[in-house]
Amino acid sequence: MLKPDAVERGLRREIFKRVRSAGFTVVEEAQIEMLPESAKDLYSIHRGKPFYDGLIQFIASGPVVVSILEKNNAVLDLRKLMGATDPRQAEDGTIRGDLKEENIFSPMGTMKNLVHGSDSIESANREIPIFFKA
Ligand code: RTP
Ligand code: MG
Repeated sequence: MLKPDAVERGLRREIFKRVRSAGFTVVEEAQIEMLPESAKDLYSIHRGKPFYDGLIQFIASGPVVVSILEKNNAVLDLRKLMGATDPRQAEDGTIRGDLKEENIFSPMGTMKNLVHGSDSIESANREIPIFFKA
């Protein structure tokens, strides 16, 4: 998923270019707006954490682009391509490292880190229907 900061900054083409260059096939791609209920569902594992409320507000703050990607070893390879969760720690050559903003925090203190990727096949199978129902 391209988070609202990526869409707002017009980075859709740039990010998908990197994804394709890394060998992924884009099976589905759609711009949607996540309702707060869908954002809560997506990030249910983070409920109760200090950044949870800000994260839900951030994800529902504007359009996102959701996609289904295909590749051998897709989960780990995409996370490598995205870079570290905290863009300040993300290496050069990664999406978060190369494209981060100067101020990476939203008004509520959420890290604006441009992209989300499923952290396992199980997560992908859980998340895809959330995205493509919306
Ligand atoms: P994601 O789930 O979005 O792909 O990111 P991730 O696995 O790399 O990071 P995760 O630990 O799952 O956290 C989810 C998202 O919450 C925001 N966050 N902000 N201010 C903070 O300390 C903080 N911590 C997490 C980020 O947008 C992160 O991607
Ligand atoms: Mg995560």
